[in-house]
This record gives sequence, C-alpha cells and structure tokens, in this order.
Amino acid sequence: MDIARTPTTPDGNIEMADAAVEPKDPPEIRREDYTPFAWLVPETHLEFELGLESTRVRSKLTVVHNDKVSRSPTIRLNGDGLVPTSVTVDGTPTQAFAMDGDDLILTLDDNAHEIGIETEIDPSANSQLMGLYASNGMLCTQCESEGFRRITFFPDRPDVLSTYTVKMSGPKAQFPILLCNGNKVAEGEDGADHWAEWHDPWPKPSYLFALVAGDLVARNDSFTTMNGREVELNVWVRDGDLDRTEHAMESLKRSMKWDEEVFGREYDLDLYNIVAVSDFNMGAMENKGLNVFNTKYVLADPETATDGDFDGVEGVIGHEYFHNWSGNRITCRDWFQLSLKEGFTVLRDQLFSQDMGSEPVKRIEDVRVLRGAQFPEDSGPLAHPIRPDSYREISNFYTATVYNKGAEVIRMMRTMAGEEAFRKGTDLYFDRHDGEAATCEDFVKSIEDGAGLDLTQFRLWYSQAGTPKVSVELAHEGDDAVLTLSQVVPDTPGQTGKKPMPIPLKIALFDRESAKHSGEQLVVLDKASDTFRFPGFAQLPVLSINRTFSAPVTISRNIERSDLVFLARHDDDPFARYEAMQDLMVGHLVAASKGELGDDDRAAGTTDIVSALRSVIADEALDDLMRGELLSMPSQTYIMEQIEAADPGRIFEEREALKATIGTELKDELHRLYERVEAVPYSQSAEAKGARKLKTLVLVYASASDPQKAAELAAHQYDRADNMTDRQGALMVLTGIDSAERTGRLLHFYNRYRDNALVVDKWFSLQAMSLHPNVIEHVKALAQHEDFTMKNPNRVRSLYMAFAANPHGFHAASGEGYKLIADLILELDPVNAQTAARFVPSLGRWRKMEPARSAMMREQLERIAAAPKLSRDTFEQVTRSLG
Ligand code: PHE
Ligand code: ZN
Repeated sequence: MDIARTPTTPDGNIEMADAAVEPKDPPEIRREDYTPFAWLVPETHLEFELGLESTRVRSKLTVVHNDKVSRSPTIRLNGDGLVPTSVTVDGTPTQAFAMDGDDLILTLDDNAHEIGIETEIDPSANSQLMGLYASNGMLCTQCESEGFRRITFFPDRPDVLSTYTVKMSGPKAQFPILLCNGNKVAEGEDGADHWAEWHDPWPKPSYLFALVAGDLVARNDSFTTMNGREVELNVWVRDGDLDRTEHAMESLKRSMKWDEEVFGREYDLDLYNIVAVSDFNMGAMENKGLNVFNTKYVLADPETATDGDFDGVEGVIGHEYFHNWSGNRITCRDWFQLSLKEGFTVLRDQLFSQDMGSEPVKRIEDVRVLRGAQFPEDSGPLAHPIRPDSYREISNFYTATVYNKGAEVIRMMRTMAGEEAFRKGTDLYFDRHDGEAATCEDFVKSIEDGAGLDLTQFRLWYSQAGTPKVSVELAHEGDDAVLTLSQVVPDTPGQTGKKPMPIPLKIALFDRESAKHSGEQLVVLDKASDTFRFPGFAQLPVLSINRTFSAPVTISRNIERSDLVFLARHDDDPFARYEAMQDLMVGHLVAASKGELGDDDRAAGTTDIVSALRSVIADEALDDLMRGELLSMPSQTYIMEQIEAADPGRIFEEREALKATIGTELKDELHRLYERVEAVPYSQSAEAKGARKLKTLVLVYASASDPQKAAELAAHQYDRADNMTDRQGALMVLTGIDSAERTGRLLHFYNRYRDNALVVDKWFSLQAMSLHPNVIEHVKALAQHEDFTMKNPNRVRSLYMAFAANPHGFHAASGEGYKLIADLILELDPVNAQTAARFVPSLGRWRKMEPARSAMMREQLERIAAAPKLSRDTFEQVTRSLG
C-alpha cells in the first residue's frame, strides 16, 4: 500500500504543500476561510462487525462533484488515528491514494464514483469517548463535532449531508440490542451472531450519526403527532434502571407536544430512541432518531434524584428533542455557526421549562447560570463572540457564550418582535432552510423578514464579544422623569473599540406612595448614550430596569439603598424583585470586602437586608419556590466578578458573616418557616418543591449562626428524609460542619448508595464543595478512593469540578487548590482531552485576582503549558488563558 504524502490544502480542493503539523502548535481555523466542499456524498453505506476490542468498519460512499463549486481532482476524507486496511474505487482496489497527516486523499477523474474503505478500530481503547467506544460492556458512538473521523474516513464537516444505510452484526449474547439512526429495515441471525440493518431517510451530516449495541432494556411508549402519526418511543437503559425512566419518558412526550403547540414542529420519523450511557463527555447528544444521553439526564426517582436533577432531565430531554428541528432538519454550515443550533435550542428548552414549571423561577435560574458561567467567560481571556471567528479545537467552543448568551441574543429578538411576530420569523426560518446547512446570518435574516424587524445593527451581537455595561441615571425635571442610559462594550482579546449595540430594556416607573406603576415599557438603547422622557410624575419615581432580564448586560446605577428595599418589597416583576434583593446584598458585600464599610454603614446595611428578608418571609402572596429565590444569597463567584483584584478569602469571610447575621436576626422567623414547610408531604408539585427548597435554605443560615444546632437539625432532616432532595440538602450543610453528625451521615450515605454511580457522584461532590476547613485534604483523599477513576467523566467532574467551583477550597491562600487542579489537568489530558480542557478556565481567571493568588494561578498555567505533550484542546485553552 502506498502511503505517500500528497500535498493538499485543508479543504482538499487544491493541491499545494502543507507541512506536517506539530502536535503542540495546531493550526488556527478561521471563519472567513470557509469554502464549500467540492464533492457531494448523496449516499453512505456502512457495515460494522462489532466487537469490544476490535470492530471492523466497511464504508461505501457515493461521491459526485458539487456543481456549485469548481471541480477538484482530489477528495479529502478526514481520519483521526485510522489506518485504511483496504481502499477501492468503483469496486476496484486502488493504490492511488495518499495520507496527509491523518486524512486520506484520493485522486478521482470522472464525475460519480463509489469509494470503499475498510478500517479496524479498538473501542475498548478509546478513553477520549469520541467516535466508537465501549461503556459498561456496551458499544456506543459520539460524533459531534469531529468524532466520525475516528470511525471511518469521511468528509467530516457539517455541510456534507448524506443518506445513511447501516448494517451491523455481532454476538447476540453480548449485544442483544442493535440500534442506529432512522428505522430498522431488516434483521437476521447467523449462528451465535445476529445483524440488523437500519436506514435513515433524512440526509444528515456525519456528526449526527449514531450506533449503539448492548444489553439494554427499554421503557416503551408512543406519541401521536398533530397529524395523527404514531411514533414509537423508547428509553433504553441497563437492566435494573428501568424504574427510574418514567420521568424521562413523560418529559419526552411533553416536549413533543409543546414543540407542536409553541413552534408548530412535528416529529418526522416513526421511531424515537433514547439511550442512557454512564461514560459521556457532555449532557446528551441529538443524533437523528437515536439520542445518546449521559445517565445523569435520564435516570430519576425521588429516592435517588433531587428536584434539581428532575428539572435537569426535563430540560435536557427537551433540548435534544428540540434539536430535531433546530439542528438536525436545519443544521450548521460550519462549526462557527454552532450557536445557530445551540443558542436557539437552549432558548427553546428554557421556554419549555418555563411553561412546564414556574416561569419566573426558571428565568432566575437561567440568569444565574448566565452570570455564573458566561459573564466570567466574557470578561476573561477566553472571551469570544457567540459566533467565533477562529478556533484551533472546536470542542473548546461548546461554551456558555455559544449556548447561553446565544439563547439570550435570540430571546432579545423575541422581546423586540413580540411573541407572535417572532413565531412568524421562526416559521419562515424552518420553512426557508429546511434540509440545509445554514448560517447564523440565515437565521437573523429569516427573523428579520418574518417578524418585520430591522436587525441591521442588532447583528453586532453575533460579532462583538464582551458583556455590555449600561449606566443608568434617573432625574426629575418639572413633571418629567428623565432616564439617561449609556453603554460601553468592553474590550476583549482581539477586539477593541466596539460599536454600540441595540439593548432592549424593559422598565417600569413606580410611584413612591402607591407602590404602583402605570405599565411596563420597552426602551431600546441603540446609541452610546440616550435620554428618555416620561411625563406625569409629580415626584421622582423608583425605577425598575432590565425586568425579566430583557438584555444580557450589567446594569450600573446609583440607586439609594432605600429604593432597593422598596423594589425588593414591591416590584411586581418577580425577576426585578429578586434582582433588587440581590443588589442589596451584593452592594453590601462588595463594599465590605473592599474594606469600604464603616461600622455605622455596616449596621445600616445589614438592618436593611434583614428587614427586606423579613418581609419576604412574611409575604403571603409569594409561593415558596419564589420565596426561596428571594431568600438566597448571591454566590461568591458572582460577588468576586464585581471586584477588581478580588481577595476570595476576604469575600468568603464577609459572606459568611452576613449569613450568620441573617441567621441570628431572623432565627425565630426561619424556625417557624421550617416548621411549616417540614409538614408538607413529598410530591413533585411546585408547592412541595418550594417547601424542600426552603428547608435546606433555613439549614444553610443556621449553619452560619449556630453550627452545632444546625448539625443536629441537618442530621434530623437527613434521618427522616423520604427523598433525595432533603437528604442531599442536609448532607450539604453537614459536610461543612466538623461534627460527629457529619462523619456518621456521610458514611451512612455512602453505604446506602454505593451501587448507584450517580448518587456516589453526589457523595464525592458534596465533600468537594463543602465549607469544611480541611476540604483540600478531603479531596486528595477522595482521589485515592476505590470508587474514583479518571476514566469516567461524571466521576471526575463530581470531584474536581465541584472543587474548582468551591472558592473556599480552590482559592485557598496557600495556592494548593490551584496546584491540585493543574495536576488533574496534566493527568487527565492524555486520557480525556475534552474533559481536561474544561478545567483550564478556572485557572484562567488569574487576572481578576489579588496579586499573590494571581501569580500562583499563572504559575500553574505555565507549568501546564511547559508539559512536553498536550492535546489540542488543552494547548489552546492554556495558551489563550496566558494571553
Ligand atoms: N450537541 C450536544 C447538545 O448540546 C452537546 C454535545 C456536544 C454532546 C459535543 C457531545 C459532544 O445537545
Ligand atoms: Zn444542544
């Protein structure tokens, strides 16, 4: 076999020299370099002879010149670590191919050909969990973004759509269930082996291919679509997990119904399969007709899953289902367009969850995620626009910016258009681009045309990174309230001197006497600075702004504390009310942490906070879920974001001190609250969920004001709990209190659940997240625990992500927390690069920290960068972080 190096460009269209790529300096791919592929692949036939250690793959691709672009004499088929064992063109073995790096290049003369390629892979050796891999004795695939090239040679790019027919065979005893995209069209037996053939009628890019083989059982159900077509639904799990799949199945049926009603989208196959696997890099994957899920987002029952877990399952099931239209029927032209499918689908899953549960509480949760994960990204070295301009490793761009800010950007269009017009826009988008690989620009144009909006300037949201900062001033002139707004879009790496963007802000002006307003209004700030006048105010009103968080910006306003107290009591927009409550606490904690609070200010501040909280506890118009939000303190990460050269130790102390004050001052009220909610029996109702949220919240306050009493209460809650929410909440509080209760209940929890991997993950996380003074020692010991493994991403995250998100441990003044995470990255990188790279951003925050910590964080990044071998993933993240 001739494996010469034929020089070609990365897109394989023209021949020219290309030096071998150093593993440590992967090339930069740029959005503006996009060119369409010179070939079409109308049909793909695959045959798999399945084995855990050795799987043989035979592919047959029909290829034909793409008439829309100039012809190329060569075709580049991407590979990643593959060796072709045979190559044929039109049935004849050929030597006329070359390897360029990992890719295979064929020279073809005529118009249409059939390319045949054989490869052999070892799924059991695949610890990266990309391509075909083994998990718990079963075989499954993960192809997004570039995993298909680890299975067979193929133009592995999302704009090459093909119709797939797949035959697979293997030992029946080992793999009784054989699944693929589309519908099963034939099956048979052959001694101890059996086979199945599947056909997917919908052309798709390779990243949506999936195959699963294993010993699985299904919860089976059906759904009748709006046009009366019956769809068979299956949720596949390992034997023994079946009784934890009801919630997933119900969530799936609700998603299907909701997408018909709200977006007019109907499912388009006769079969919908979901498979749960325990080794998975992400949450789940929307492969056509065959979603593969992390078990974490499928399995749930009251005994083993918290209310948060239940919500997570519903949200992710919805998310993957909604991708069938926003992602699969209309896919992405290239990976720079990732937010086209992800931003839109996140918005769709958020709206779905809002409709299924409490709309304001879901909105608050989503904003919390945005501020906790995306704002830091946008203000740090890894900032990028929702449509990035370049990347070295696309896996690094599955970010909160692309996903969550992407969703916010589309939500703003919806807010400006109104729901009805927005729906006209999405209808037009689905109609116009069905079957295509589209761009973000195609989406914006469809919304523009369908909804009748001018989004010319709005497009800046796709190209400019950074969280805009809006300054707000409200003045009183005659009988007018005069609102002056100005915006700054901060510089980010590679982007300076940005243009003003349209920022839609929902506002209300409250009369101070009646605590009422005469209607919410939408103002759009589209200049650097602008003034808005509102007549009819005899005295200065109280301004409520960015209601429902209508724009993903930070608001800076010189507001009197008494006005925040007013809004925390009276604002009729639940989000704005929550925001006022948070601002009250954040303002206090920021000033305190910077040492700017005198004794009198401190006393006055806590008095206001305590009295606002007291009225929240007493407010009978509130439901308990919302009450829980209003009573929650801002996270340390969020406070840290508001401070330059932040000192995490100081912030931690101030936050704990405020917590203790609240616990002490409101002791009786919180106690009575606990007694009331403790009596609510377990159910999945909003009322019961709210009760559980409050129970643990009361324990949290008590743990700061009276730790020994809190330990007793928490142990009591743990012992009588009949559900995981109460149990985990109690244990969370206990892990922070050095006590006999702590040791006993942790041991009990482990022994009770040691056979349930998802609950053992909780056991690891709780200890890594704890406020215990010895948390670093605990984490080091847990890394040696017999249940710890670097091979399972859920387990790695349960210990180390939890730790990296625990400011009390990660930011320990000794720098040991930083070293621990750097050690982890170095050890995990060769095993699972994608997961390893996800730990880099925590160290990348070094510029925001006080000098001593900043230097130690940077030092760890440099240590990683100096490693002799690094994956593309980690290399890119570390280099960008060092800036
Ligand atoms: N596309 C998946 C989702 O958002 C996420 C994913 C990306 C999963 C890459 C696996 C690998 O639903
Ligand atoms: Zn998605």
